[in-house]
Amino acid sequence: MKVLIATDKPFAKVAVDGIRKEIEAAGYELALLEKYTEKAQLLNAVKDVNAIIIRSDTIDAEVLEAAKKLKIVVRAGAGYDNVDLNAATAHQVCVMNTPGQNANAVAELALGLMVYAARNFYNGTSGTELTGKKLGIHAYGNVGRNVARIAKGFGMEIYAYDAFCPKEMIEKDGAKAVDSAEELYKTCDVVSLHIPATPETKNAINYALLKDTPKGSLLVNTARKEVIDEDGLIRLMNERGDFKYVTDIMPAAHAAFEERFAGRYFSTPKKMGAQTAEANINAGIAAAKQIVAYLKDGINTFQVNK
Ligand code: 3PG
Repeated sequence: MKVLIATDKPFAKVAVDGIRKEIEAAGYELALLEKYTEKAQLLNAVKDVNAIIIRSDTIDAEVLEAAKKLKIVVRAGAGYDNVDLNAATAHQVCVMNTPGQNANAVAELALGLMVYAARNFYNGTSGTELTGKKLGIHAYGNVGRNVARIAKGFGMEIYAYDAFCPKEMIEKDGAKAVDSAEELYKTCDVVSLHIPATPETKNAINYALLKDTPKGSLLVNTARKEVIDEDGLIRLMNERGDFKYVTDIMPAAHAAFEERFAGRYFSTPKKMGAQTAEANINAGIAAAKQIVAYLKDGINTFQVNK
């Protein structure tokens, strides 16, 4: 069996070494395609492999068509909006993610971005503190829960909204579960986004939702750029000189945000929430183990295209 790691944004070396150990211990062969610049390189690399480990790399119908021997794709991470699940199912390819494995890394970055924005991007002027501020966690999954845990240490008052998570689960963590996204955004000084990118959430964070946020609000996005209605956010930031946006996923209109909202906007140059050695090791090795368990014993616990 041949397993390919296809990562445009490479794992830390120590994680690749760990993955290799798992794959070779199972008697399989490991191939590596990192920092590729052309889709043709991916199409060529997948030709003879049985399994692929990816991150935000796109696995579409064309890639699946080229991968004639493919049985499984594991997205080493949480969001699998980069994989065409219907095409995978049509090709009888199992798709999995590794839920929770990089959640702490993303949560730490969310808090880091909050401090950065609250301190005026470290420009030397007097900023604000997180202690005592109301934090709204939009979607209470693995990352949201870790954000709540860390934010408690900052002395923030924690609120959360999740359409699918029972209120009791939120409240047992000492957070207040609110009834709607609208209520969350109206109540909180800082909102941290943790919703996945799906057809339902596309452009969901829009002008109407943001317009009644408290004065001096901050929106932190370590989720996906697709969930933001960029035109609506630009309109809001034009009208509201007090509103700040910090993101780990560069918006399509990055240049416009940077030009118009200097001092109130920041984007990392490349998504780096999960870019830690620990998260790479956790997610990468989990992916390798899931591949071996699936190919040897048919274990499909984390399959997302069932
Ligand atoms: C995820 O969905 O797991 C995160 O967004 C991390 O993505 P990455 O592996 O591309 O950094």
